[in-house]
Amino acid sequence: MTAIVPVNALARHISPLASALSSAAVEVIESGYYVLGPNVKAFESEFATWCGASECVSVANGTEALELGLRSLGVKQGSSVAVVANAAMYGTTAVLACGAEPVFVDIDPSTCTIDPAALDEAASRQSIDVVIVTHLYGRLADMSAIMALADKHGFAVFEDCAQAHGAKDHSGRKAGTFGKAASFSFYPTKNLGALGDGGAIITNCAETAETLRQLRQYGWTSKYRNELAGGRNSRLDELQAAFLRIMLPLLEGWNDRRREIANRYSDEIHHPDIKVPARGGDDFVAHLYVVHTDDRAGLQKHLSGAHVASEVHYPIPDYRQPIFGNEFQGISLPWTEASCNAVVTLPCFPELTDDEVSRVIEACNGW
Ligand SMILES: Cc1ncc(COP(=O)(O)O)c(C=O)c1O
Repeated sequence: MTAIVPVNALARHISPLASALSSAAVEVIESGYYVLGPNVKAFESEFATWCGASECVSVANGTEALELGLRSLGVKQGSSVAVVANAAMYGTTAVLACGAEPVFVDIDPSTCTIDPAALDEAASRQSIDVVIVTHLYGRLADMSAIMALADKHGFAVFEDCAQAHGAKDHSGRKAGTFGKAASFSFYPTKNLGALGDGGAIITNCAETAETLRQLRQYGWTSKYRNELAGGRNSRLDELQAAFLRIMLPLLEGWNDRRREIANRYSDEIHHPDIKVPARGGDDFVAHLYVVHTDDRAGLQKHLSGAHVASEVHYPIPDYRQPIFGNEFQGISLPWTEASCNAVVTLPCFPELTDDEVSRVIEACNGW
Protein backbone atom coordinates (compact mmCIF):
# COMPACT_ATOMS: atom_id res chain seq x y z
CA MET A 1 0.00 0.00 0.00
CA THR A 2 1.34 3.44 -0.89
CA ALA A 3 2.12 5.55 2.17
CA ILE A 4 0.30 8.86 2.41
CA VAL A 5 2.39 12.03 2.26
CA PRO A 6 1.06 13.81 5.35
CA VAL A 7 0.55 17.57 5.75
CA ASN A 8 2.52 17.32 8.98
CA ALA A 9 4.16 14.53 11.01
CA LEU A 10 5.06 15.56 14.54
CA ALA A 11 6.42 12.15 15.56
CA ARG A 12 9.10 12.47 12.86
CA HIS A 13 9.94 15.94 14.13
CA ILE A 14 10.19 15.00 17.78
CA SER A 15 11.67 11.48 17.74
CA PRO A 16 15.29 12.58 17.03
CA LEU A 17 15.01 14.80 20.12
CA ALA A 18 13.32 12.25 22.34
CA SER A 19 16.29 11.48 24.53
CA ALA A 20 17.28 15.15 25.07
CA LEU A 21 13.64 16.03 25.82
CA SER A 22 13.29 13.13 28.25
CA SER A 23 16.43 14.17 30.15
CA ALA A 24 15.18 17.74 30.33
CA ALA A 25 11.82 16.52 31.65
CA VAL A 26 13.52 14.50 34.38
CA GLU A 27 15.60 17.52 35.36
CA VAL A 28 12.47 19.66 35.65
CA ILE A 29 10.66 16.98 37.64
CA GLU A 30 13.55 16.72 40.07
CA SER A 31 14.06 20.51 40.30
CA GLY A 32 10.93 21.32 42.26
CA TYR A 33 10.18 24.32 39.97
CA TYR A 34 7.18 23.85 37.70
CA VAL A 35 5.78 27.30 36.88
CA LEU A 36 7.70 30.55 36.21
CA GLY A 37 10.98 28.96 37.23
CA PRO A 38 14.54 29.03 35.84
CA ASN A 39 13.71 27.44 32.47
CA VAL A 40 10.99 29.99 31.76
CA LYS A 41 13.35 32.81 32.68
CA ALA A 42 16.15 31.40 30.53
CA PHE A 43 13.86 30.68 27.58
CA GLU A 44 12.43 34.21 27.68
CA SER A 45 15.90 35.66 27.57
CA GLU A 46 17.09 33.29 24.81
CA PHE A 47 14.01 33.82 22.67
CA ALA A 48 14.14 37.61 23.02
CA THR A 49 17.80 37.55 21.92
CA TRP A 50 17.03 35.18 19.04
CA CYS A 51 14.28 37.52 17.80
CA GLY A 52 16.34 40.66 18.31
CA ALA A 53 14.07 42.12 20.99
CA SER A 54 14.95 43.24 24.48
CA GLU A 55 11.99 41.64 26.29
CA CYS A 56 10.02 38.40 26.10
CA VAL A 57 7.10 37.50 28.34
CA SER A 58 5.90 33.91 27.96
CA VAL A 59 2.25 32.96 28.38
CA ALA A 60 0.02 29.90 28.06
CA ASN A 61 -0.73 30.01 24.31
CA GLY A 62 -0.70 32.21 21.22
CA THR A 63 -4.28 33.38 21.54
CA GLU A 64 -3.67 34.76 25.03
CA ALA A 65 -0.38 36.23 23.80
CA LEU A 66 -2.47 38.16 21.26
CA GLU A 67 -5.09 39.24 23.77
CA LEU A 68 -2.73 40.23 26.58
CA GLY A 69 -0.46 41.87 24.01
CA LEU A 70 -3.33 44.05 22.80
CA ARG A 71 -4.30 44.86 26.38
CA SER A 72 -0.71 45.86 27.15
CA LEU A 73 -1.02 48.45 24.36
CA GLY A 74 -4.16 49.84 25.99
CA VAL A 75 -6.79 48.10 23.84
CA LYS A 76 -10.10 48.02 25.70
CA GLN A 77 -13.80 48.56 25.24
CA GLY A 78 -14.28 51.30 22.68
CA SER A 79 -10.93 50.70 20.94
CA SER A 80 -10.83 49.94 17.21
CA VAL A 81 -8.41 47.28 16.01
CA ALA A 82 -7.73 46.58 12.34
CA VAL A 83 -7.33 42.91 11.53
CA VAL A 84 -7.37 40.61 8.51
CA ALA A 85 -10.24 38.14 8.22
CA ASN A 86 -8.43 35.21 6.55
CA ALA A 87 -6.51 33.94 9.59
CA ALA A 88 -8.93 31.65 11.42
CA MET A 89 -10.32 34.17 13.92
CA TYR A 90 -7.22 34.29 16.15
CA GLY A 91 -6.78 38.07 15.92
CA THR A 92 -10.50 38.73 15.95
CA THR A 93 -10.98 36.53 19.03
CA ALA A 94 -8.35 38.57 20.87
CA VAL A 95 -9.91 41.87 19.79
CA LEU A 96 -13.34 40.75 21.00
CA ALA A 97 -11.89 39.40 24.27
CA CYS A 98 -10.61 42.92 24.97
CA GLY A 99 -14.10 44.29 24.34
CA ALA A 100 -12.81 46.20 21.30
CA GLU A 101 -14.23 46.52 17.80
CA PRO A 102 -12.61 44.62 14.89
CA VAL A 103 -12.14 46.59 11.68
CA PHE A 104 -11.70 44.01 8.93
CA VAL A 105 -9.15 44.91 6.26
CA ASP A 106 -8.62 43.10 2.96
CA ILE A 107 -5.48 41.20 2.02
CA ASP A 108 -2.97 41.51 -0.78
CA PRO A 109 -3.81 38.41 -2.86
CA SER A 110 -0.17 37.81 -3.77
CA THR A 111 0.94 37.40 -0.13
CA CYS A 112 -2.34 36.76 1.76
CA THR A 113 -1.19 39.35 4.33
CA ILE A 114 -2.78 42.73 5.09
CA ASP A 115 -2.96 45.02 2.05
CA PRO A 116 -1.31 48.36 2.94
CA ALA A 117 -3.54 50.22 0.45
CA ALA A 118 -6.69 48.77 2.06
CA LEU A 119 -5.30 49.61 5.51
CA ASP A 120 -4.59 53.19 4.42
CA GLU A 121 -8.14 53.46 3.13
CA ALA A 122 -9.63 52.01 6.36
CA ALA A 123 -7.54 54.32 8.58
CA SER A 124 -8.56 57.33 6.47
CA ARG A 125 -12.22 56.38 6.86
CA GLN A 126 -12.25 55.78 10.61
CA SER A 127 -10.01 56.05 13.63
CA ILE A 128 -7.93 52.95 14.32
CA ASP A 129 -5.99 52.46 17.56
CA VAL A 130 -4.04 49.31 16.78
CA VAL A 131 -3.39 47.19 13.69
CA ILE A 132 -2.75 43.47 14.04
CA VAL A 133 -0.36 42.40 11.30
CA THR A 134 -0.55 38.62 10.81
CA HIS A 135 2.50 37.23 9.01
CA LEU A 136 0.35 34.48 7.56
CA TYR A 137 1.81 31.16 6.38
CA GLY A 138 5.23 32.38 7.57
CA ARG A 139 5.54 35.29 5.14
CA LEU A 140 6.57 38.68 6.47
CA ALA A 141 3.94 41.29 5.62
CA ASP A 142 5.01 44.52 3.89
CA MET A 143 6.38 46.08 7.09
CA SER A 144 7.98 49.14 5.54
CA ALA A 145 4.64 50.19 3.99
CA ILE A 146 2.74 49.36 7.20
CA MET A 147 5.15 51.27 9.47
CA ALA A 148 4.89 54.29 7.12
CA LEU A 149 1.09 54.11 7.55
CA ALA A 150 1.51 53.89 11.33
CA ASP A 151 3.42 57.20 11.17
CA LYS A 152 0.81 58.73 8.89
CA HIS A 153 -2.28 57.66 10.87
CA GLY A 154 -0.86 57.32 14.39
CA PHE A 155 -1.99 53.75 15.08
CA ALA A 156 0.12 51.20 16.95
CA VAL A 157 1.29 48.04 15.19
CA PHE A 158 1.01 44.65 16.86
CA GLU A 159 2.49 41.69 14.96
CA ASP A 160 1.02 38.19 15.12
CA CYS A 161 4.07 35.98 14.50
CA ALA A 162 2.44 32.65 15.40
CA GLN A 163 3.35 31.33 11.94
CA ALA A 164 6.50 33.35 11.32
CA HIS A 165 9.21 32.65 13.91
CA GLY A 166 12.39 33.94 12.31
CA ALA A 167 11.07 35.48 9.07
CA LYS A 168 13.30 38.48 8.30
CA ASP A 169 13.41 41.46 6.00
CA HIS A 170 16.30 42.32 3.64
CA SER A 171 18.26 43.88 6.52
CA GLY A 172 17.91 40.78 8.73
CA ARG A 173 15.32 42.36 11.01
CA LYS A 174 13.05 39.65 12.33
CA ALA A 175 9.27 39.37 12.50
CA GLY A 176 8.02 40.80 15.76
CA THR A 177 10.51 43.65 16.04
CA PHE A 178 8.82 46.20 13.77
CA GLY A 179 5.75 47.09 15.81
CA LYS A 180 5.25 47.96 19.49
CA ALA A 181 4.89 44.31 20.49
CA ALA A 182 4.32 40.91 18.90
CA SER A 183 2.81 37.57 19.81
CA PHE A 184 4.02 34.03 19.13
CA SER A 185 2.42 30.61 19.50
CA PHE A 186 4.40 27.49 20.40
CA TYR A 187 1.58 25.10 19.55
CA PRO A 188 3.25 21.80 18.55
CA THR A 189 2.86 22.26 14.77
CA LYS A 190 4.38 25.75 14.72
CA ASN A 191 7.89 26.33 13.33
CA LEU A 192 8.96 26.41 16.98
CA GLY A 193 6.50 24.13 18.76
CA ALA A 194 6.39 22.80 22.31
CA LEU A 195 4.94 19.46 23.41
CA GLY A 196 1.77 21.20 24.48
CA ASP A 197 0.47 24.76 24.42
CA GLY A 198 2.67 27.81 24.82
CA GLY A 199 2.97 31.41 23.70
CA ALA A 200 4.95 34.59 24.20
CA ILE A 201 4.99 38.32 23.56
CA ILE A 202 8.14 40.19 22.60
CA THR A 203 8.66 43.94 22.83
CA ASN A 204 11.43 46.49 23.14
CA CYS A 205 9.49 48.43 25.75
CA ALA A 206 10.32 47.54 29.36
CA GLU A 207 7.10 49.14 30.61
CA THR A 208 4.95 47.08 28.23
CA ALA A 209 6.80 43.93 29.33
CA GLU A 210 6.16 44.77 32.98
CA THR A 211 2.44 45.25 32.26
CA LEU A 212 2.41 41.87 30.50
CA ARG A 213 4.07 40.16 33.49
CA GLN A 214 1.27 41.55 35.62
CA LEU A 215 -1.49 40.66 33.16
CA ARG A 216 -0.33 37.02 32.89
CA GLN A 217 -0.55 36.71 36.66
CA TYR A 218 -4.09 37.80 37.63
CA GLY A 219 -3.32 41.51 37.15
CA TRP A 220 -1.17 41.50 40.29
CA THR A 221 1.17 44.44 40.71
CA SER A 222 2.53 42.67 43.76
CA LYS A 223 1.51 39.38 45.35
CA TYR A 224 -2.27 39.27 45.99
CA ARG A 225 -2.71 42.93 44.97
CA ASN A 226 -4.87 43.18 41.82
CA GLU A 227 -4.49 46.54 40.13
CA LEU A 228 -4.78 45.75 36.45
CA ALA A 229 -8.09 44.96 34.75
CA GLY A 230 -7.99 42.13 32.21
CA GLY A 231 -5.46 40.03 34.09
CA ARG A 232 -5.63 36.25 34.17
CA ASN A 233 -3.61 33.14 34.80
CA SER A 234 -1.65 32.62 31.57
CA ARG A 235 1.79 31.12 32.16
CA LEU A 236 4.21 28.90 30.25
CA ASP A 237 5.23 25.96 32.41
CA GLU A 238 8.77 24.83 33.14
CA LEU A 239 8.50 21.61 31.13
CA GLN A 240 7.48 23.43 27.95
CA ALA A 241 10.14 26.09 28.49
CA ALA A 242 12.81 23.39 28.95
CA PHE A 243 11.66 21.68 25.72
CA LEU A 244 11.63 24.95 23.79
CA ARG A 245 15.18 25.71 24.94
CA ILE A 246 16.33 22.45 23.34
CA MET A 247 14.53 23.26 20.08
CA LEU A 248 15.39 26.94 19.67
CA PRO A 249 18.98 26.35 18.42
CA LEU A 250 17.53 24.04 15.72
CA LEU A 251 14.91 26.48 14.46
CA GLU A 252 17.03 28.24 11.83
CA GLY A 253 17.87 24.88 10.21
CA TRP A 254 14.22 23.78 10.28
CA ASN A 255 13.17 27.06 8.67
CA ASP A 256 15.79 26.61 5.94
CA ARG A 257 14.51 23.12 5.14
CA ARG A 258 10.88 24.34 5.07
CA ARG A 259 11.89 27.12 2.65
CA GLU A 260 13.81 24.67 0.47
CA ILE A 261 10.71 22.47 0.15
CA ALA A 262 8.44 25.45 -0.52
CA ASN A 263 10.75 26.82 -3.19
CA ARG A 264 10.92 23.44 -4.91
CA TYR A 265 7.12 23.47 -5.07
CA SER A 266 7.06 27.02 -6.43
CA ASP A 267 9.68 26.12 -9.06
CA GLU A 268 8.36 22.74 -10.08
CA ILE A 269 4.57 22.80 -9.81
CA HIS A 270 3.35 23.78 -13.27
CA HIS A 271 -0.37 23.45 -13.75
CA PRO A 272 -2.65 26.01 -15.39
CA ASP A 273 -5.26 25.66 -12.61
CA ILE A 274 -2.88 25.83 -9.63
CA LYS A 275 -1.49 29.20 -8.61
CA VAL A 276 1.63 28.77 -6.50
CA PRO A 277 3.04 31.41 -4.15
CA ALA A 278 6.19 33.28 -5.14
CA ARG A 279 9.55 31.77 -4.18
CA GLY A 280 10.55 32.97 -0.75
CA GLY A 281 13.76 34.42 0.58
CA ASP A 282 14.54 35.04 4.25
CA ASP A 283 11.16 36.78 4.58
CA PHE A 284 9.40 33.40 4.23
CA VAL A 285 9.72 30.60 6.79
CA ALA A 286 7.15 28.41 5.03
CA HIS A 287 5.00 27.55 8.02
CA LEU A 288 2.34 26.51 5.52
CA TYR A 289 2.65 26.06 1.77
CA VAL A 290 -0.65 27.24 0.33
CA VAL A 291 -1.70 27.22 -3.33
CA HIS A 292 -4.87 28.67 -4.87
CA THR A 293 -7.23 26.95 -7.29
CA ASP A 294 -10.75 27.59 -8.57
CA ASP A 295 -11.54 23.89 -8.16
CA ARG A 296 -10.52 23.11 -4.59
CA ALA A 297 -12.70 20.04 -4.26
CA GLY A 298 -11.31 18.65 -7.52
CA LEU A 299 -7.69 19.23 -6.54
CA GLN A 300 -8.12 17.77 -3.05
CA LYS A 301 -9.88 14.70 -4.46
CA HIS A 302 -7.12 14.17 -6.99
CA LEU A 303 -4.38 14.59 -4.34
CA SER A 304 -6.10 12.18 -2.04
CA GLY A 305 -6.25 9.62 -4.87
CA ALA A 306 -2.50 10.11 -5.31
CA HIS A 307 -1.99 9.50 -1.55
CA VAL A 308 -1.10 13.12 -0.84
CA ALA A 309 -2.85 14.76 2.11
CA SER A 310 -4.01 18.38 1.91
CA GLU A 311 -5.83 20.85 4.12
CA VAL A 312 -7.55 24.22 3.96
CA HIS A 313 -6.11 27.19 5.88
CA TYR A 314 -8.64 28.79 6.21
CA PRO A 315 -12.10 28.43 4.68
CA ILE A 316 -14.29 31.06 6.40
CA PRO A 317 -13.67 34.82 6.59
CA ASP A 318 -13.91 35.91 10.24
CA TYR A 319 -16.86 38.22 9.55
CA ARG A 320 -18.82 35.27 8.05
CA GLN A 321 -18.32 32.99 11.06
CA PRO A 322 -21.63 31.62 12.38
CA ILE A 323 -21.12 33.20 15.82
CA PHE A 324 -21.66 36.64 14.27
CA GLY A 325 -25.01 35.90 12.64
CA ASN A 326 -25.81 38.95 10.51
CA GLU A 327 -23.64 41.37 12.50
CA PHE A 328 -21.19 41.94 9.66
CA GLN A 329 -23.63 41.35 6.81
CA GLY A 330 -22.62 44.59 5.14
CA ILE A 331 -18.93 43.70 5.01
CA SER A 332 -17.44 42.09 1.94
CA LEU A 333 -13.69 41.92 1.26
CA PRO A 334 -13.18 40.57 -2.26
CA TRP A 335 -9.62 39.24 -1.97
CA THR A 336 -10.25 37.69 1.44
CA GLU A 337 -13.30 35.88 0.13
CA ALA A 338 -11.61 34.75 -3.10
CA SER A 339 -8.70 33.41 -1.08
CA CYS A 340 -10.83 31.58 1.50
CA ASN A 341 -12.63 29.84 -1.37
CA ALA A 342 -9.47 28.81 -3.21
CA VAL A 343 -6.73 27.91 -0.70
CA VAL A 344 -5.26 24.41 -0.49
CA THR A 345 -2.36 23.56 1.85
CA LEU A 346 0.24 21.05 0.60
CA PRO A 347 2.56 19.02 2.85
CA CYS A 348 5.44 21.16 4.12
CA PHE A 349 7.46 20.35 7.22
CA PRO A 350 11.20 19.95 7.78
CA GLU A 351 11.25 16.15 7.89
CA LEU A 352 9.48 15.69 4.55
CA THR A 353 11.82 13.64 2.33
CA ASP A 354 12.92 14.72 -1.15
CA ASP A 355 10.99 11.74 -2.55
CA GLU A 356 7.83 12.83 -0.80
CA VAL A 357 8.27 16.36 -2.15
CA SER A 358 8.64 14.88 -5.65
CA ARG A 359 5.45 12.87 -5.14
CA VAL A 360 3.52 16.01 -4.18
CA ILE A 361 4.85 17.84 -7.24
CA GLU A 362 4.01 14.91 -9.55
CA ALA A 363 0.54 14.64 -8.06
CA CYS A 364 -0.14 18.35 -8.64
CA ASN A 365 1.25 18.31 -12.17
CA GLY A 366 -0.70 15.18 -13.00
CA TRP A 367 -4.07 16.70 -12.08
C1 LIG B 1 -1.75 33.19 12.98
C2 LIG B 1 -2.07 32.59 14.32
N1 LIG B 1 -2.33 33.41 15.36
C3 LIG B 1 -2.62 32.92 16.58
C4 LIG B 1 -2.67 31.58 16.82
C5 LIG B 1 -3.11 31.10 18.17
O1 LIG B 1 -2.16 30.34 18.81
P1 LIG B 1 -2.57 29.22 19.89
O2 LIG B 1 -3.15 28.05 19.15
O3 LIG B 1 -1.28 28.89 20.57
O4 LIG B 1 -3.55 29.84 20.82
C6 LIG B 1 -2.38 30.70 15.78
C7 LIG B 1 -2.35 29.23 16.04
O5 LIG B 1 -2.95 28.37 15.67
C8 LIG B 1 -2.08 31.21 14.50
O6 LIG B 1 -1.81 30.39 13.47
